[in-house]
Parts: sequence; C-alpha cells; structure tokens
Amino acid sequence: MRCGLFVKMDVFLTKIIRMHSIAQYRTKFISYLESRTKTKEPKNLYEPITYILGLGGKRLRPVLTLMAAEIFDKNYSEALDAALAIEVFHNFSLVHDDIMDAAPLRRGKSTVHEKWDVNTAILSGDAMLITAYQLFENYEVNIFRDLARLFGTTALQVCEGQQYDVDFETREDVTVPEYLKMIEYKTAVLVGAALKMGGIVAGASEADQNHIYQFGRNLGIAFQLQDDYLDAFGDPKTFGKQVGGDIIANKKTFLYLTACELASEEQKRALEHLFSIYPKDVTDKVNTVKEIFEQSTAVEKTQEAIKEYTHGAFEVLDKLKISAEKRALLETFGKQLMHREA
Ligand code: IPE
Ligand code: IPE
Ligand code: MG
Ligand code: MG
Ligand code: MG
Repeated sequence: MRCGLFVKMDVFLTKIIRMHSIAQYRTKFISYLESRTKTKEPKNLYEPITYILGLGGKRLRPVLTLMAAEIFDKNYSEALDAALAIEVFHNFSLVHDDIMDAAPLRRGKSTVHEKWDVNTAILSGDAMLITAYQLFENYEVNIFRDLARLFGTTALQVCEGQQYDVDFETREDVTVPEYLKMIEYKTAVLVGAALKMGGIVAGASEADQNHIYQFGRNLGIAFQLQDDYLDAFGDPKTFGKQVGGDIIANKKTFLYLTACELASEEQKRALEHLFSIYPKDVTDKVNTVKEIFEQSTAVEKTQEAIKEYTHGAFEVLDKLKISAEKRALLETFGKQLMHREA
C-alpha cells in the first residue's frame, strides 16, 4: 500500500501532461498507423486499404483526438486506437464518397475504384468501417461504450449528410440553411467526434466533452466551406483532387447558393441552366461558373463565412478552463486550416 502523499503525487504528475506540437502528434500517429496496417489475404480486399491509408492526407482528425486527450490530461498514447478508428472511418468514407462523386483523383493519385474497380472499393470500404468499430474493443468497458455510442451516432449522421449532398445535386430549391445542415452532417460532426473521443479517453467531464465537440463542429463547418472553395479555386498542383469536380457534379455549395442570390438576373439564369446539365466537355462550364462565382462576390462571402465559423469555434473555447498554451495549440490548428491549400 502506498501512502496518501504518493497517491497525491501521482495525481499531480498525471495532471501536468506535456503538450506536443501538431507536427509531433502527426508523426506519432503515422508511425502507429503504419505499425497497424499490414496487407493480409485476400490481397484484393486489404491492398486497397493499405493503399488509401498510405496515401497520406493531412491526418487532421486523428491529430485532434490525440491533442484532446492531452488537453484533458491523459497521455496521447492512450488515445491512439480511437485516433486510428477515426482516420480509418474517414478513409472509408472517402473511398465510398469517390465512387458517389465519380472522382478520379484523391491525394494526387488514382481513387480506389479507378485503380481497382467499384466492387473492390465497396467491399474494402466496408471492411474499413468494421475495422474502425473493432478498434474501440481495445478500451475498457465504460470508455468502449461511450466511444461506440458516439461513433454510431456520428457515422449515421455522416451517411445522412452524404445522402443530402447527393439529393441536392438534382434539386433546384436548396437553401443556405439546408446546405449548412448537410455539411454539418457529412463533415463537421466527425471533426467534433474526433475531439470528443480524446475527451472520452481522458475521462473529461461531460460539459468539457460537449464544449470540445462544439469547437470541432464549428471548425468542421469552416473546413467544408473551405473545401468547397478549393474545389473550384484550388491549385491543381497542390489540391490533390480534380479541380472543378463539384461544378461538374452540380453540387449546390455555398459558392453556388450565394452566387444565385447575388448575381444579376442574366447570370443567375446562366448558373441555373449550367447546374442542370452534364456536358461532355466540361471546360466551358467550369470556367463560366467560376467567373460568375467571382463577379457575384460569392467568393468573398464564402471567405467571410469561413472566418465566421472559425472564430465561432474559438469563442466556444472560452467555455473550457484550459491553459493559454492549450488554447493556443487549438487556435493554431484552426488558423492553419483556414490557410490550407489541400
Ligand atoms: C476530405 O477530408 C473530405 C472532406 C470532408 C472535405 P480531408 O481534406 O481531411 O482529407 P485528407 O485526409 O487530408 O486527404
Ligand atoms: C466529403 O465531402 C464528405 C465525406 C467523405 C463524408 P466531399 O465530397 O466534398 O469531399 P471531397 O472533396 O471528395 O474530399
Ligand atoms: Mg467527394
Ligand atoms: Mg461528396
Ligand atoms: Mg469536396
């Protein structure tokens, strides 16, 4: 039996967990991911999984999980399985999303359904979703229950968001609030959940878990608005996806909806027409739409909305009683997202 003083010392020491830098969390996560992704038989099931997980990407969500664990005073290594589950789920959603969006490129390389075929992409994706669930089994029963519950709710919301996204392609009366709900579901809830999972693993209070979730949800909305902006105006050399893909697929993004509100009657009619057709040669369509997005000031309005949601995320941080160092780390993360090019 240890005396009371030593027990208190233990508690004290676990309370002064040293925070790492964003780059360090990323490196730690990548080595863990590499140690856990080995291609097994049948190769046609597992190779596409190793391929997509090895293509890189920004690793934003797992970094957030590790960071949140340490923000709530737990060693990041305890959160590695939750972080891996989030990243595997995210990559699963991309494999299926690329089929749904008929996307040729992901992270500058062929998408899974292009490199293999659609059936392979469906089944490898399914196996990834199951793998993500299995990773929670490495936690003790109460943490397992909370992680699995949050994951189930979140994964279903992502499916709902994806369905709205597809439904909106052929709808002509989509509104800005509907669009915002769609991106909240398909993208932002997973960013919130990534952070909350770090909080769950660390045993943070329910209030703190909810605040960090709201921080992530706001950041996630800003992130998807930025993704939509880059989809039209990103540099093909750095973006890693087909630039103009959303325009080709008639996605009703914030850029499109705002341009419809602000453009001249003539431009609005042109835009509505272009978003109801699927021409073989897409160059003219993409260029005309981008011009209208710029001339109507929809581009500026989108940039403003990105800033608003990012600052909204920072305001939520006031509710968390965390050190200035921890807050700065989360703010740096948010600011880096606003200036990303991929
Ligand atoms: C792409 O997510 C899908 C969206 C929600 C926009 P990321 O931009 O985080 O993709 P990677 O993982 O860095 O490639
Ligand atoms: C993707 O949205 C959201 C999910 C994968 C759930 P997008 O379709 O905009 O993502 P990208 O642009 O293909 O990465
Ligand atoms: Mg897509
Ligand atoms: Mg999509
Ligand atoms: Mg996109």
